[in-house]
Amino acid sequence: MVSFLITFLMTLSFSIIIIILLFLKSKPYCTCDVCHSYLNSNWSKQYNNLCDWYTHLLQNSPSQTIHIHVLANTITANPKNVEHILKTNFQNYPKGKQFSMILGDLLGKGIFNVDGDAWLFQRKMASLELRKSMSKNAFENVKFHVENRLLPVLSSAAGSGKDGGFIDLQCVFRRFSFEYICRFLFGLDLDSLELPFPVSRFSDSFDLATTLSAKRAMSTSPMIWKTYRRFNVGSERKLKEAIRDVNFVVERVIENKKKKLGFTKNQDLLSRFMEVSNDHSFLRDVIVNFILAGRDTVASALTSFFWLITNHPEVESRILTELEQTTNQKQGFATFEQMKELRYLQAAIHESMRLYPPIQFDSKFAVENDTLPDGTLVRKGTKVSFHPYAMGRMETIWGKDCKEFKPERWLKDGVFNHENPFKYPVFQAGFRVCLGKEMALMEMKTVVMGILPRFKLRVVNSDGGELRFEPGLTATVKNGLPIIVGEREVLQLASD
Ligand code: HEM
Ligand SMILES: *[C@@H]1O[C@H](CO)[C@@H](O)[C@H](O)[C@H]1NC(C)=O
Ligand SMILES: *[C@@H]1O[C@H](CO)[C@@H](O)[C@H](O)[C@H]1NC(C)=O
Repeated sequence: MVSFLITFLMTLSFSIIIIILLFLKSKPYCTCDVCHSYLNSNWSKQYNNLCDWYTHLLQNSPSQTIHIHVLANTITANPKNVEHILKTNFQNYPKGKQFSMILGDLLGKGIFNVDGDAWLFQRKMASLELRKSMSKNAFENVKFHVENRLLPVLSSAAGSGKDGGFIDLQCVFRRFSFEYICRFLFGLDLDSLELPFPVSRFSDSFDLATTLSAKRAMSTSPMIWKTYRRFNVGSERKLKEAIRDVNFVVERVIENKKKKLGFTKNQDLLSRFMEVSNDHSFLRDVIVNFILAGRDTVASALTSFFWLITNHPEVESRILTELEQTTNQKQGFATFEQMKELRYLQAAIHESMRLYPPIQFDSKFAVENDTLPDGTLVRKGTKVSFHPYAMGRMETIWGKDCKEFKPERWLKDGVFNHENPFKYPVFQAGFRVCLGKEMALMEMKTVVMGILPRFKLRVVNSDGGELRFEPGLTATVKNGLPIIVGEREVLQLASD
């Protein structure tokens, strides 16, 4: 009888929650066309991705700024506004409490999720460490990793036949950049951890945790996810489980490092932080934030780069020619010094991220009322976002051919020309500009040098179409990037 009563009460309270949630979800705060389209996902009839719809709206806005009222979100693609937010009036646009609440369970007090002194401290520590990433030594490390971890995967997929083999390139890049960032920042070989489950479960849980955290930001009211979390149901329950997996592995990483630290003076980011803190919860946050920073972004950038290359053979052959002329060999890597001369490659990488920035938009919260340079009024508490994805597609910034993939636009008389970072905030800009930019560029170049001369890639469903993205913190291609890979030499022999 008692158990029946309990079940009944639980069912009742559960139903009430659901009703409240449905009410919150359907509540029409605003009936303007844009909000209406957002609330009932009408945009998805015309656009593959939310970012494509936002791009359309931004292109058509005279000030290059729009408002999604139901999200209390001002979104801009105007470089002057971006400079204002990220530099001129930086103090007024922190990440803010709302952001840190949404991502708090996953990111804790890590660098991505804090402002003020806690941020500055981590930034200083990290920049000391990341300065090393531009050394010859670091380059040799990436190269080693590419040769021993990445190329064998492609090689075994390609097989020995002339038809090549099938592989999900996005999946391969995620694995690669994950292993590399763990080695570089934590001095860690993931396989050596002796986990009770496969490493892939760690990365799957990590993916799930970022995706579900990002989804929180898309709901019109924080009440919705907070209620779910409170009762540990639905996506919030999954999120909690995913974070538990992540924490389990990260704790192992810390323990593992502690044991080693006694013997060798280990110089990497994690040891640096461990020298100043023994707080496991803080060290956990450091690890999770840096994995997020260095793994998904690079994997995302590589995925769209290779997707573009397979659709632009003329760019592919120019990259190969440049490499051959610089190194005087058909296959193989450039040296650390030669790499700096690969200007066309540098241009192609920047161009691919112009069209497909790994972080498609980024948000801050206004502390006080403010006016943006384009005249837009920003009320205290508003979420203000800038949108690198849309900015790459603005005629006002890049001209009429903005939608075309043209590495040449970055070269002036054969010399690479840096763009104003507020026009191209792919690595953000101003005070919180990405600390891993040089490292990311080097990693990408090394991967291209390893793959392109040796393998020929072909996209499986090359309908010349567009990429479809999964909602998340970093751009992830929905259902991966299936490609057919073959060894160039084998293909060459077969066609002779
Ligand atoms: C193509 C690859 C990459 C892209 C496009 C990229 C882009 C960005 C962006 C947009 C931000 C600002 C995020 C925000 O504040 O909301 C950022 C911050 C950051 N990135 Fe990267 N990143 C890349 C690779 C890396 C790598 C490899 C590292 C090295 C671990 C790294 C380390 C960081 C750090 C530490 C921050 C925080 C800076 C701060 O808040 O002061 N990034 N990055
Ligand atoms: C949304 O719905 C309206 C009316 O049904 C329609 O005119 C409009 O084109 C739709 N699409 C978008 C993206 O708003
Ligand atoms: C901010 O602006 C709003 C209207 O735009 C106004 O009602 C409010 O008083 C202002 N707040 C402050 C602190 O100035």
